[in-house]
Amino acid sequence: MSEFDLVIRNAHCATAADVFDADIGIKDGRIVALAQGLKSAEGTEEIDAAGRWVLPGGIDGHCHLDQPMNDGSKMADDFLSGTRSAACGGTTTVLPFACQFKGQSLRDAVEDYHRRAKGKASIDYTFHLIVSDPTPDVLNRELPELIKEGYTSFKIYMTYDDLKLNDREVIDVLAVARDHGAMVMVHAENTDCIAWLTERLLKAGHTAPRFHAQSRPMLVEREATHRAISFAELVDVPILIVHVSGREAIEQIRWAQGNGLRIYGETCPQYLFLTADDLGLDDEHDHSHGAKCICSPPPRDKANQQVVWDGLESGVFQVFSSDHAPFTFEGPEGKYAAGADASFDKIPNGVPGLETRLPLLFSHGVLTGRIDICQFVALTSTNVAKMYGLYPKKGSIAIGADADLTIWDTGLDRVIRNADLHHNVDYTPYEGIPVSAWPTLTLSRGKTVWANGQYHGQAGHGQFLHCELPTPARPKSRGQKP
Ligand code: URP
Ligand code: ZN
Ligand code: ZN
Repeated sequence: MSEFDLVIRNAHCATAADVFDADIGIKDGRIVALAQGLKSAEGTEEIDAAGRWVLPGGIDGHCHLDQPMNDGSKMADDFLSGTRSAACGGTTTVLPFACQFKGQSLRDAVEDYHRRAKGKASIDYTFHLIVSDPTPDVLNRELPELIKEGYTSFKIYMTYDDLKLNDREVIDVLAVARDHGAMVMVHAENTDCIAWLTERLLKAGHTAPRFHAQSRPMLVEREATHRAISFAELVDVPILIVHVSGREAIEQIRWAQGNGLRIYGETCPQYLFLTADDLGLDDEHDHSHGAKCICSPPPRDKANQQVVWDGLESGVFQVFSSDHAPFTFEGPEGKYAAGADASFDKIPNGVPGLETRLPLLFSHGVLTGRIDICQFVALTSTNVAKMYGLYPKKGSIAIGADADLTIWDTGLDRVIRNADLHHNVDYTPYEGIPVSAWPTLTLSRGKTVWANGQYHGQAGHGQFLHCELPTPARPKSRGQKP
């Protein structure tokens, strides 16, 4: 029997720490050898990667697939189409959300989500929990039990009527995370400011998608970010502020990091490539295409895009996720589920982006020299694996790691077109943006899922991953907290 199932020859590898040239030996889905001039038995399958980057597969730490909605909309991507699209863009692990509705037990939400995923995924996956109803039973029994079982991260919302927690509830959830070592992701926007602004805009007849941005200005995000940071400091627990959109929230995070608080930051492609203008221009009644780019927090302006790039470069951000939230533009279950003339506040939030996340950042970040290749790997894979307890099985090129790998074509002259993507959404907000890099091959545990423009994934190949407790350097306590 051959020592390897597959050898990748002449790989120009990058990890979050190193760049090296090696042949990669793969057996039973794992990397078992890294060496130059690796000997292999005759007949062993080989791929020549000469002249190409070989990187750990992407890990998308924030995406929404088949998440039940209660506003009449339905997500267009489930675990089948979502993982297909991810694989075709170089991602080999996804972390969507098992969402608790108010009144529902967390366990119920998790079991329902397992049923939705079962047999469909072509790449590996795990779940974050969304905690929307932190009853005493959830806090004292369900969460600790689920954390022990490998659901070690949860998202909380400071806005959205059906999901939001009040300040006391946020503090209570953070305290559970501290006691049990879990990671909390925070959607930081001030819900009362949004409600007040929305009411005024609607009263004035400002219903078009572009007013979404005016209902959620940066101060709304800045205030909630500051509050979340204060609560994390009070409880003495690390948190991740997700989908950070621009300067004001970044300043809060940078301030906290500079003061020794364990505050982490995530940003997403929409804050690098979209602006509020993509929600529509001046016509008050223009409902044409702006709904496609409605997401929260909203995209800002060019100057803020630059501040987000600076944050990626300087290390304010640890993770770069898609926040893929797939709603079609046409059709009765998508952006206009509430009717063709729905006001901006009735349009489901979110943009698709699983497949385009890595090519966009590689092309406009690495190949322009804004970030280096090791930063790219850290932001899109390694840090995500560490943050959510998947490292070192995922997120690296190392002996013993899963053979989740991408081989990249660079120097391409290509433009993003929705027609070329593999999600079930009828648009991409990134239509027409040039990209010069795209994976030519994606391997999930040694199996080809994407090669030379063809999808080869198999529903059911993807496995559920139980997370360990997260591994960022986390000194237990900075002070004497009860
Ligand atoms: O607009 C967004 N971001 N939609 C997805 C849900 C969320 O809050 O992440
Ligand atoms: Zn959110
Ligand atoms: Zn999200």
